[in-house]
Amino acid sequence: MALERLVGSTEREEDRAAETSLRPRHLDEYIGQDRVKENLRIVIEAAKARGESLDHVLLYGPPGLGKTTLAQILATEMGVSLRITSGPAIDRAGDLVSILTNLKAGDVLFIDEIHRLARQVEEVLYSAMEDYAVDIIIGKGPAARSMRISLPRFTLVGATTRLALLTSPLRDRFGIIHRLDFYDERAMLEIMRRSAKILRVTMDEDGARELALRARGTPRVANRLLKRVRDYAQVRADGAIDGLVAREALRRLEIDSLGLDETDRRVLSAIVDKFEGGPVGVATLAAATNEEVDAIMDVYEPYLIQLGFLQRTPRGRVATRRAYEHLGKAYAASAVARAAAQMTFLDPDSEEEL
Ligand SMILES: Nc1ncnc2c1ncn2[C@@H]1O[C@H](COP(=O)(O)OP(=O)(O)O)[C@@H](O)[C@H]1O
Ligand SMILES: [Mg+2]
Repeated sequence: MALERLVGSTEREEDRAAETSLRPRHLDEYIGQDRVKENLRIVIEAAKARGESLDHVLLYGPPGLGKTTLAQILATEMGVSLRITSGPAIDRAGDLVSILTNLKAGDVLFIDEIHRLARQVEEVLYSAMEDYAVDIIIGKGPAARSMRISLPRFTLVGATTRLALLTSPLRDRFGIIHRLDFYDERAMLEIMRRSAKILRVTMDEDGARELALRARGTPRVANRLLKRVRDYAQVRADGAIDGLVAREALRRLEIDSLGLDETDRRVLSAIVDKFEGGPVGVATLAAATNEEVDAIMDVYEPYLIQLGFLQRTPRGRVATRRAYEHLGKAYAASAVARAAAQMTFLDPDSEEEL
């Protein structure tokens, strides 16, 4: 349990404490995601030059890749205030109306997990985003009447790990939509060095590379691994992280050469051993591994797909030859799994519930 949480990219209390210091505050400090950064830089500059609020922005991608960070940066760069909330935190339409009416012109409202908004709350958002107005009902019964309240020109920044769960009316109201991808090796190395510097950890190139390669292309995991390995280095190696120290610490944490932990291997092994390589539906896989469907879809699966270990086919999940090799097993997928592995990938953003 403790181990799967170590590489699991969902947020924890411990992360929040260090976040203040590690989280980039300006676009220039935000490493990687060059295409997204370039696009945002242009829209920020243009909006500022026109003296207008920024268009609504939707950010999606696996947890820990920097969606919340980008939302904060957008507000900072625009020089406006940021109000943070989340889909599940807004219970009633009235709660959203009160948040909206308290915004000032230009302010950024960040709604995390926006795919989890209640239906009635989401409907309020439609007119708020489009017309900068909300309709509220005053009074009850035959005397009830609708009243339109106008809102300041705010910017909604929405974040989600599951684009496919967003309704199209909501999705269509975002002028700017960006997907955050796993970070490449160079960006991860840079993030690792930056975090080590901020946390004042002594680390050589070899150590940095070792950690960067095993952090699943995910900055949150990079920061978490760094802190764990720092602890180990402090107790066993005078505080300095070199390649040897990093490898030994990671071995103890049961994180393998590609950053997979015990849960990743268990999910892969289940497909291989219990389902002859697949295809297996995600609900069945979740039951077989004792994991939540959401955890598999949000946290484990995206990285396994990125590594080319797992494919999402129209008939379910399939383990690839590379997965077998990584697990040290001979490729013995069923005929169905072999055929399925040849099929085209499903758009990762659609048909997710297979
Ligand atoms: N581009 C980046 N450069 C450097 N550090 C980053 C970057 N993106 C994210 N981080 C680090 O990773 C942590 C997790 O990012 P966060 O924005 O909370 O992810 P998400 O909201 O997508 O789950 C942040 O606290 C920050 O320290
Ligand atoms: Mg977040």
